[in-house]
Amino acid sequence: MGKTKRIGILTGGGDCPGLNAAIRAVAKTSIFGHQIEVIGIEDGYEGLINNKTRILQTKDVSGILTQGGTILGTSNRANPFAYGEEKKDVSEEVFKNFHNLKLDALICVGGDGTLHIAHELTQLGMPVVGIPKTIDNDVEATDFTIGFDSACAVATEAIDNIHSTAESHHRVMIIELMGRYTGWVALYAGVAGGGDIILIPEIPYKIDKICQEVKRRGKFGKRFSIVVVAEGVKFEDKELVVKKRVKASTDQIRLGGVSYKIAQHLEELTGLEARVIILGHLQRGGKPTDFDRILATQFGKKAVDLALAENFGYMSSLQHGKITSVPIESAIRNLKKVNLDSPLIEAARGVGTCFGD
Ligand code: F6P
Repeated sequence: MGKTKRIGILTGGGDCPGLNAAIRAVAKTSIFGHQIEVIGIEDGYEGLINNKTRILQTKDVSGILTQGGTILGTSNRANPFAYGEEKKDVSEEVFKNFHNLKLDALICVGGDGTLHIAHELTQLGMPVVGIPKTIDNDVEATDFTIGFDSACAVATEAIDNIHSTAESHHRVMIIELMGRYTGWVALYAGVAGGGDIILIPEIPYKIDKICQEVKRRGKFGKRFSIVVVAEGVKFEDKELVVKKRVKASTDQIRLGGVSYKIAQHLEELTGLEARVIILGHLQRGGKPTDFDRILATQFGKKAVDLALAENFGYMSSLQHGKITSVPIESAIRNLKKVNLDSPLIEAARGVGTCFGD
């Protein structure tokens, strides 16, 4: 203890509500509690590669608790081990810049991609601490990531608002939510918003089952249905629907549009009218929920504690309601998928939600 004088912080990957709350927590804990200087690194690892940094003082982080996005900017294209379209290894530059900045520790706030890079840097000797964030909630070894709850709040409100128009027009409304290869957002928002059918990548579905359910509801006087679809479900359980590919990105695939295919089949097979809403980046916008503000504040404080204790290669984590820490390595081994025995799925099935299986 006492050796740490300067901490760097960066936010990498897709933005989400709660990042600013984490930056604020790291900066205030460091400055107030330990007289540590905090260096904000701009645009994720891009700032460390190209030396884009600024000192963060308390005035810079004051008033940002409630703001979405990240005051530091972010990037999901700046991998120091495979930079740019030529995928060049610029990690030496990163180490040089890190030392020139006289940093004693680097706090990396990010999801799967950012934490992978953080782990690689740790293995090469950089003193790194992680904070898990992503609306997808797909990071292992933590119950929740920053941003997930806020994304679910936006998605739930959208599902709530879709109900009246679905009912008035007697339509099937298909709402497609983000989440990449996992169904956390679709499951949580789908249950919270009372989706009649929820499709997630973890549960293979059959289009016939969805049609049967829509028709069954009709027999009971429900002439509309809300189908909540995770962007990562495969069409007819075979093919991921890719919207575009981003060459310079760690994961090049951008999902989106499976709902249009499902809608077309539903219309053909049931004769009912279907409409598609792709909620998209709205799920990453807006203010963080109280849960995310609290989680980010605790994760930020914990990350500073880890840096002070020189527990490098670790990240803040929430397990069974308690803030703790885990090796970053344990968080990136696999994507955290929805557990099919989860009480939430059981409860959803209990109230008649169809998962298309
Ligand atoms: O990982 C967060 C996320 O919002 C995913 O849910 C989504 O698939 C992806 O990022 C979208 O990426 P981009 O912002 O590059 O379009």
